[in-house]
Amino acid sequence: MPRIAWWQSGIVYQVYPRSFQDSNGDGVGDLIGIRNRLDHLKWLGVDALWISPFFPSPMADFGYDVQDYCGVDPLFGTLDDFDALVAKAHGKGLKVILDFVPNHTSDQHPWLVESRSSRHNPKRDWYIWRDPKPDGSPPNNWVSHFGGSAWQLDEATGQYYYHAFLKEQPDLDWRNPEVQSAMHDTLRFWMNRGVDGFRVDVIWLMIKDRELRDNPINPAWHEGMPDIQRVLPVHTADQPEVHEVIRGLRRVVDEYDDRVLIGEIYLPVDRLVTYYGEDLTGTHLPFNFQLILAQWKADVVASLITEYEAALPPGGWPNWVLGNHDQPRIAARVGAAQARVAAMLLLTLRGTPTIYYGDELGLSSVAIPPEAAQDPWEKNEPGRGFSRDPERTPMQWDETENAGFTTGRPWLPLSDDHTAQNVDRMREDETSILWLYRRLVALRREKASFSIGDFRLLTQSGDVLVFQRLYRDERFIVALNMSSRAATVAIPEMENGGAIRLSTSLSREAEHVSATLVLDADEGLVIEPA
Ligand code: NOJ
Repeated sequence: MPRIAWWQSGIVYQVYPRSFQDSNGDGVGDLIGIRNRLDHLKWLGVDALWISPFFPSPMADFGYDVQDYCGVDPLFGTLDDFDALVAKAHGKGLKVILDFVPNHTSDQHPWLVESRSSRHNPKRDWYIWRDPKPDGSPPNNWVSHFGGSAWQLDEATGQYYYHAFLKEQPDLDWRNPEVQSAMHDTLRFWMNRGVDGFRVDVIWLMIKDRELRDNPINPAWHEGMPDIQRVLPVHTADQPEVHEVIRGLRRVVDEYDDRVLIGEIYLPVDRLVTYYGEDLTGTHLPFNFQLILAQWKADVVASLITEYEAALPPGGWPNWVLGNHDQPRIAARVGAAQARVAAMLLLTLRGTPTIYYGDELGLSSVAIPPEAAQDPWEKNEPGRGFSRDPERTPMQWDETENAGFTTGRPWLPLSDDHTAQNVDRMREDETSILWLYRRLVALRREKASFSIGDFRLLTQSGDVLVFQRLYRDERFIVALNMSSRAATVAIPEMENGGAIRLSTSLSREAEHVSATLVLDADEGLVIEPA
């Protein structure tokens, strides 16, 4: 039996550092704050925290514009704070995963400052510079993810540089071995400090077409869609040569024991799974965002699970993500009742689950008045519904002012119901979604069927999805009603009935059920067959 790595059996929890816990009253979360809240993660029972960027940054894209890959922004603390956080996390048996942003730097990064200083600067070709077209316009039709042309003219040297995101986020040229080697060293810098792995930002965008050919126009584009979708990313994403670059990152990670490489990838499943790499030499976990993107319907979810399972390469370890700092929260997408069903799905599927901070409280989309908007995407394409602020609001800890997040003015508003929807209050209510998360995590830890066992889809009938998890002699059945109507489903694999191990309402445990299972509206059950 192959050794199971921690990132296979474990559960990842994403912390958005601006919003987790402020320790100095400036209204923005920080590393000391995270350290002070590690007990929440222990109480929940997760294994690892992934911290979104805290590196020195002008914060044009809230830290995804890195000015120094080997430091801590003063807003978040110091390197000593970081070391103390890692030490404390490790002391509690928690792994620490960093956010590595290799595709682009900040335009304030010394490399870009040098690169733009002259056409002949040795770092000129660390970035992607091109001459304007004869009429002075950008070299091609590539569009930025945050709207507008992806090319920025540098008046002084008369050339454009490419930026997949903001103009303040120039793309590095990863075809350049000097870039590769400098960035590899930054990975070593953090692993030498004890970091257990990396989530790699936009890994599938790291290589672009060498000839910079125009992207084809998207015939399906309409006004409701973001600017970036005007063109199809044929020459800007998922280029074959990216896999060699990823192999390079993996080799560096493999210089150290037991580290994990996770890739942020938004691609259809057949493309996504190529990011395990040939002979699994790519990312350990290419993030699987299907539960975020798919329609919340039992038949859709059933087929995406089977298709994903079937597409995995031999030995490739699955993973599931329900939310992150770029996507509307699960409770906003499916409603409060289904958010509980979604939690049960996430934590009973085969593959490493990633929980987004605050989803364990059932946080939903927080209304952000226009004058409070922070997200640069919202500022570039205002009022079009693309803002990521609603899912980045402060964590809600207790009933005190600002829910215990800060003694200052929070950088984004809290949700209105924070006096009820907070960790303290919900810990007192053993039927809360917070307790559901905790119980699901505990079950996953206790029963190998869930963490490392096999998966079998049993049936999908109407709004109900039923699957089995099994390991050696252990068998569990998970039945999820993905609608707000009660439903009945026949489960022949439970011919002698079974005992409910866990219910989304947390009120039916130990009840016996028959093979003709009746599910309440929005109910999920984990059953141990008799
Ligand atoms: C993906 C990150 O998750 C997102 O927040 C960021 O804006 C872009 N990459 C650019 O780094």
